[in-house]
Amino acid sequence: MLRTHHCAQLTSADLGTTVSLVGWVDSIRDHGGIIFVDLRDRKGITQVKFDSSLREQATHLKDESVIGITGKVEVRPADMVNRNLPTGEIEVDATGLTVHNLSDTPPFPLTDAGGDKVNEDLRLTYRYLDLRRPKMRKNLAVRHRATKAVRDYFDAQEFIEVETPALFKSTPEGAREYLVPSRIHPGQFYALSQSPQQFKQILMVAGVEKYFQIARCFRDEDLRADRQMEFTQVDVEASFIDREGIYALFEGMLKKVWKDVLDHDLPTPFPRLVFHEAMNRYGVDKPDVRFGLELQDFTGLFKTSSFKVFASTATAGGAVKALNAKGLADLTQGEIKALEEIAKSLGARGLAFIKVEGGEWKSPIVKFFSEAEKAALTAQLGITDGDMVFFAAAPWEQACAILGRIRLEAAQLLVKRGKLTLRPDDWQFLWVVDFPLMSYDEARGGYAATHHPFTAPVPEDAAFLDSDPKKVRGQHYDVVLNGMELGGGSIRIHQPALQKKDFEEVLKIPADVVESRFGYMLKALTYGAPPHGGIAFGLDRMCALLCGTTSIRDVIAFPKTQKGQCLMTQSPTPVTEKQLKELHIRTVLPE
Ligand code: AMO
Ligand code: AMP
Repeated sequence: MLRTHHCAQLTSADLGTTVSLVGWVDSIRDHGGIIFVDLRDRKGITQVKFDSSLREQATHLKDESVIGITGKVEVRPADMVNRNLPTGEIEVDATGLTVHNLSDTPPFPLTDAGGDKVNEDLRLTYRYLDLRRPKMRKNLAVRHRATKAVRDYFDAQEFIEVETPALFKSTPEGAREYLVPSRIHPGQFYALSQSPQQFKQILMVAGVEKYFQIARCFRDEDLRADRQMEFTQVDVEASFIDREGIYALFEGMLKKVWKDVLDHDLPTPFPRLVFHEAMNRYGVDKPDVRFGLELQDFTGLFKTSSFKVFASTATAGGAVKALNAKGLADLTQGEIKALEEIAKSLGARGLAFIKVEGGEWKSPIVKFFSEAEKAALTAQLGITDGDMVFFAAAPWEQACAILGRIRLEAAQLLVKRGKLTLRPDDWQFLWVVDFPLMSYDEARGGYAATHHPFTAPVPEDAAFLDSDPKKVRGQHYDVVLNGMELGGGSIRIHQPALQKKDFEEVLKIPADVVESRFGYMLKALTYGAPPHGGIAFGLDRMCALLCGTTSIRDVIAFPKTQKGQCLMTQSPTPVTEKQLKELHIRTVLPE
């Protein structure tokens, strides 16, 4: 053993004992004849004093060097006691010093504040140093605790963890896939699994009944703060279960995770919001309900308005929606312009507004409003002095989406002005339910599954599958926390005939393509498939929120950058001609 104690262990109860400690030099101070080193390991810090023959050797130490020391535990002089450290009453008077490794000067200070100030790319390049920071060490530990709580929970519920392949078959759906060339089968490819969806359903046919897996998934998507190309799902599937069963199962899991990791009691059941209402009130299917600023509908009111922009949208079947950003009348021209740009990036033609200042409505459009229209706006939006009202007139879903985004931006602007507080630990979970089973994809000119094509319709809506697929709700549910989609799943189609009809007649996938992509699955369903359903949870997203951050990179030991690179190992890289030849691949680079 290189050590007798860890660096957060020794107290005045150990006075006089001889101990050995190992760790990193957190800091070094030369107080004239005496050198003090704060020695750090993963548990904490102990002060070590070098004032004997070791003094000269200790002067050569540098921050982050790895050393081992032997010495006697002594009480610190009263004026040097540090009440903030568990070891703050003692120090170790070193009688032996082993230098395991000197360290070069780190490119940034390895404190929480020091790392937060530098560019994230630098932290990712030197991730092994970044992970030495207390905050990052804590994040890794939180992730471990959360993962363990999840495993313990499902084990107690008699679920079994089954691993499924990462090398899967290409079944292009949803996100773009990563392809892996086969050496043995020239010109053929595997796809990295985007999720264990099809395998977990097959496990239900196999009679497993209760499956879970902490599963790595791969998607070639544009990366964002809450998206990585490889990420981890808590993936679950169960037989003979309905939506209520899934809700209760997952609320139980989250309750345990929050209790085990944060010692916080989450109230359950979580509120539920149907998709249509979520869109109407918050403009998004993953609403942050920690604050109000809800959207209001004025389509009816403006049908006969003399403001043609609104009237024409309203009469053409679109929607006119408004949002009162309470207390934001002090927005600058620049801030209003920036909001308008955001609205335009979502396809808006403009972002009409009313600024309410000194009892006056300042707005380029208010001259078109009748007294009745003004009265209706005032009443429904609760307009008072100091408010800022925004409008969107567009097809319903787009109008919702535009104002949904403006709502989030407005909240940030209110936070910036100290007019709103959004606590990351104000845990507002909710289920969003009753999504449409299909959505019409204008670009493709056909229907696409809202969740995935294995989702079962709500039974009482199934009759509309042929006549009006838009009307059919899916048995699909999402769990949302503070504006982030944490998880989603559905009750599945377990009847082969319905699944085939869904593929061929509703989604209009040609029969031969259905056969080559999903034939094995349809066949499996013909051999006694039980009714089943499940859900998958973004473990990275859950851990990020548990750690009070919104970037999942902070809870992944070795994440990729927004551009999909690992800055530490410098991947991706070109490979040799020989490797490509073995894989029967020739590359054609863009000009
Ligand atoms: P879905 O595609 O909704 O469902 O994914 C489930 C959850 O996985 C997380 N997630 C991600 N996290 C980080 N980076 C990504 N690129 C990423 N993509 C998704 C999200 C999301 O809610 N097989 C279905 C589930 C089912 O029906 O059971 C599925 O994968 O938190
Ligand atoms: P216009 O009559 O086109 O100059 O528009 C008057 C105001 O309404 C401007 O502030 C525009 O930004 C805004 N506006 C135009 N079209 C829309 C729309 N579809 N939704 C919301 N605001 C709009």
